[in-house]
Amino acid sequence: MTQEDPRILELRAMREKARQGGGAERIATQHKKGKLTARERIELLLDPNTFNELEPYITHQGDELGLAAQQYLGDGVITGYGQIDGRTVYLYAQDFTIYGGTLSEMQSHKICRVMDLALRNGVPCIGLIDSGGARIQEGVKSLGGYAEIFRRNAQYSGVIPQISLMLGPCAGGAAYSPALTDLIIMVEKHSYMFLTGPEVIKTVTGEVIDPENLGGADVHMAVSGTAHLAADSESSALSLCRRVLGYLPSNNVENPPFTPSADDPLRMDDSLNTIVPLDPATPYSMHEVVARIVDRDSFLEVQSSWARNAIVGLARIGGHSVGIVAQEPRVMAGVMDIDSSDKITRFVRMCDCFNVPLVTFVDSPGFLPGVDQEHRGIIRHGAKVLYAYSEATVPKISVITRKAYGGAYVVMSSKYLGTDVNYAWPSAEIAVLGAEGAANILFKKQIESAPDPSAERKRLADDYRARFNNPYHAAATGYVDDIIEPRETRPKIIAALGALRDKYAPAPPRKHGNIPV
Ligand code: HXC
Repeated sequence: MTQEDPRILELRAMREKARQGGGAERIATQHKKGKLTARERIELLLDPNTFNELEPYITHQGDELGLAAQQYLGDGVITGYGQIDGRTVYLYAQDFTIYGGTLSEMQSHKICRVMDLALRNGVPCIGLIDSGGARIQEGVKSLGGYAEIFRRNAQYSGVIPQISLMLGPCAGGAAYSPALTDLIIMVEKHSYMFLTGPEVIKTVTGEVIDPENLGGADVHMAVSGTAHLAADSESSALSLCRRVLGYLPSNNVENPPFTPSADDPLRMDDSLNTIVPLDPATPYSMHEVVARIVDRDSFLEVQSSWARNAIVGLARIGGHSVGIVAQEPRVMAGVMDIDSSDKITRFVRMCDCFNVPLVTFVDSPGFLPGVDQEHRGIIRHGAKVLYAYSEATVPKISVITRKAYGGAYVVMSSKYLGTDVNYAWPSAEIAVLGAEGAANILFKKQIESAPDPSAERKRLADDYRARFNNPYHAAATGYVDDIIEPRETRPKIIAALGALRDKYAPAPPRKHGNIPV
């Protein structure tokens, strides 16, 4: 029997050492917390046997505060490339068993390396994040390391998809880098994002709060709007990441992948013809409208618990990816406010950077009036929606299902913001103001001096309603392209998308615009 070359044996031993991360005890602690190790996560995320690791023998170069005595191969992050559904991705997975996955100078070097390779090869970069933020012992080197990552997050934004999975307590820079990426996926009751943790907050402000209530998935999904998707387990979060990537191209010069659908492109859904109640004040479910129009079960809602008066999400229609934007009449009547403006803007821009056509369903009584909204900057926030739709060059289709009043008509993908095809349902009401409000303003004196002011107000409002609260006035002046039966919406959208597939709408050359953030 030939003896193994000792150099091969040494390599195998080194590989095994690298696999051990921070050691068996810390791996056991990780498991006891219900968390997977970085390597287990990579296995679940990628197609089987496709992972290739890079730079596994890097160690930190610090010697302050006892660092020199504790060297671990890989320095708390595993980096490399693999495949998801046969498409290449680059990734990094922080290893909490080594210095709590914290960022050192060398860890930053490893992460930046895969980010650079992802950019150069035009493929997504995925971060599996589980980290206490900047490694305290390395001081400014770890802060500078984060700056290197943030700069790349920003410069590569809109070129390759960047997805962040939050898989543990993510503090400081470990929360800021994800905030610069396209989508953040959290794990319920299991991952946290905060700039400063409960201990620091207690010292500085005296507030007492636990990690879950400070920055858990529920908080970032429903209150702060920082997270985009949440799952009930790590493995569900990882498969959600796989699913999301299926809607996106690998880079900004490709189109999203086509996924053949068994759902008939010519399918008409008769129930849509009766979904909008005759009483304009009675709500209906826009979620149901969307579900009945897109390819069956293809709608993946983003930010489903935040600013619920707006709906955004990825879907397929006729096998092609689309971004859906809509209002939900069941929540605050679908009114536009600061948070829904931010939600819509961010999503429209993400779709535009990655060549995902936009389909917008409109039912909104307008912008929310009120001192609070005005003082918090509804003008600035609402302007972002105008900006995003105006600058988007992807195919844009809009369908007005019911109310499109005032500013809400204009901002929601209206024709002269550059929308390619504008449809309205017969239930559409397109006007500057609702009938009562308009009558009160236009005919104030006439109403006040009438023998029966309320009867006069009603008469004038009915007259206004007959003139404007329907789609025919807008259609007669070319502000909508066609009025369609609701049941025809799916085939009409599929036909329009087909006709817009080769849309060429180059933006004028400029360094970049100045969006009113
Ligand atoms: C060095 C750290 C560390 C850090 C944790 N560890 N955070 N080491 N630098 N920032 C180490 C611990 O010493 C421990 O080492 C191991 O990681 C696990 O930490 P535990 O505290 O035991 O785990 P847990 O109870 O789960 O708590 C995790 C945690 C907590 C919530 C992340 O450790 C924590 O609050 N850490 C500090 C977070 C922070 O303030 N970071 C700086 C952010 S500033 P052993 O050897 O025991 O395994 C920042 C600036 C970026 O990032 C710039 C932004 C613009």
